[in-house]
Amino acid sequence: MKSNRITIRSVHESEIMEMLSMLAEEGIYHNEELYVLLYESYPDLMIVAEREGSLLGFVVGALSTEDSGRILVLFVRRDYRGMGIGKRLLREVIRRMVTIYGVKEITLEVHEKNETAIKLYEEFGFRKVKKLHGYYNGEDGWLMVKKIMP
Ligand SMILES: CC(C)(COP(=O)(O)OP(=O)(O)OC[C@H]1O[C@@H](n2cnc3c(N)ncnc32)[C@H](O)[C@@H]1OP(=O)(O)O)[C@@H](O)C(=O)NCCC(=O)NCCS
Repeated sequence: MKSNRITIRSVHESEIMEMLSMLAEEGIYHNEELYVLLYESYPDLMIVAEREGSLLGFVVGALSTEDSGRILVLFVRRDYRGMGIGKRLLREVIRRMVTIYGVKEITLEVHEKNETAIKLYEEFGFRKVKKLHGYYNGEDGWLMVKKIMP
C-alpha cells in the first residue's frame, strides 16, 4: 500500500518553500516570513508527510497561550487525499502538543462549508464552539476546540 512508505516527521527549514509551493499550486498564498517565524518558535509542531523525498502534506501548529495549542494549517496534496495522511498528521501534531507542551486544549478555525475537514476534526474530538461570522473573506467559519482530558 502506497501510504506504508509515507513518513511523518518534523519539517526541515529548507522545505518551507516547498510547503508554500504546495499551497500555491491550489491558489493559496501564505506568508514565508510567518512560516519561518513559526518554524523558529515551534519546529516540532511543523510536521510533514514525505515520500521518497517529496512532500505530500503538512500541518502547522503553535501555542496561543501556555496551555492552549492552535492548529494553523492542515493540508494534503490533492492527488494524495483520502489515503489517511491528514489523519496521521493531525494525530501527530495533537500528540506532540500534549506530550511536549502539555496543552489542555487545542483550537482551530475551519470554513463552515469544509465538511471533509469538519468531519475529520470531529472524529478527533474537536467540537464546534463558535460561529466565526465573515472570517473567510466574508464567509463564515467555525472555531473548533478539543479539550484534552487529564
Ligand atoms: C482536510 C484534508 C487535510 C484531509 O486530508 P486527507 O489526507 O485527505 O484525510 P484522510 O485521508 O486522513 O481522511 C480523513 C477523512 O477525510 C474524509 N475524506 C478524505 N478523502 C475524502 C474524499 N475524497 N471525499 C470525501 N471525504 C474524504 C473522510 O471523512 C476521511 O475519514 P474516513 O476515512 O474516516 O472516512 C485534505 O482534504 C485537504 O488538504 N484539504 C484542503 C485543505 C483543507 O481544507 N484543510 C483543512 C482546513 S482547516
